[in-house]
Amino acid sequence: MNGRPVKIALRGLTKSFGKKHVLRDLDLDIYEGESIAVIGASGTGKSVLLKNIVGILTPDSGSIKIDGEEVTGLSGNARDRVNRKLGMLFQGAALFDSLPLWENVGFGLMSAHGVSRADARIAAIERLRQVGLDEDSADRFPADISAGAQKRVGLARAIATEPEILFFDEPTTGIDPIMGDVIDKLIVKSVKELGATALTISHDMDSARRIADKIAMIHEGKIAWVGDVAKIDNSGNEIVDQFIHGRVDGPMSASLLGTPAA
Ligand SMILES: Nc1ncnc2c1ncn2[C@@H]1O[C@H](COP(=O)(O)OP(=O)(O)O)[C@@H](O)[C@H]1O
Ligand SMILES: [Mg+2]
Repeated sequence: MNGRPVKIALRGLTKSFGKKHVLRDLDLDIYEGESIAVIGASGTGKSVLLKNIVGILTPDSGSIKIDGEEVTGLSGNARDRVNRKLGMLFQGAALFDSLPLWENVGFGLMSAHGVSRADARIAAIERLRQVGLDEDSADRFPADISAGAQKRVGLARAIATEPEILFFDEPTTGIDPIMGDVIDKLIVKSVKELGATALTISHDMDSARRIADKIAMIHEGKIAWVGDVAKIDNSGNEIVDQFIHGRVDGPMSASLLGTPAA
């Protein structure tokens, strides 16, 4: 379509928890160097989708290819090799409370890339700087800093190993709008600098518009619509329209819109 290779190909992805069918035969192609946001109401399976791609969850059926390689069912060294291509900012940052900020950022460099502590510290301080935190922050602990600063540290950690693919799960949830805007801009800058492929999960349409080139709408376990950000206001898709205008009536059920943020 745009001449770029497909970086992540999802086919027939299916995942249930008991009777709860979260992903139902989901297909999506993510092209190299593109930044895509998967949007959808809370509880529709956005985090589950991401967790399947990064190997935290295993799909019930379907295929996940990264650079053409089937990654479902990989474990041990093979999974580690694939995961070295990936960086992730978790919902709520998920920092290690007992480690100072620099070790949080340098953790992947030391554990998966064989970088010495001394070098990892230097690299971590540089990454902290890139997200607007000065060197003095390096020896502080997650509990001592604000939620917004924790997101910055989570972002510094995600980019520390210069991954080819970046995942962001609800990067602006739980922080104020001004800080959210700052984080969005840092994400855009980081993705550009790395030339990475990026997948952001969000229920925040404004944030998704700021971060991504392309939007995919998840609904009832499938991608209901995918297209360029510029086309979202004229998608011609009822589900997308309901979501971006926050309407209660429409194909997305009221009960779905009423589910608390997960
Ligand atoms: N490990 C799990 N065990 C059981 N149910 C889960 C698990 N993870 C997610 N779910 C359920 O799957 C649905 C989708 O969750 P999630 O992907 O977190 O939604 P969101 O789109 O808000 O990120 C929710 O109903 C959630 O309760
Ligand atoms: Mg989620």
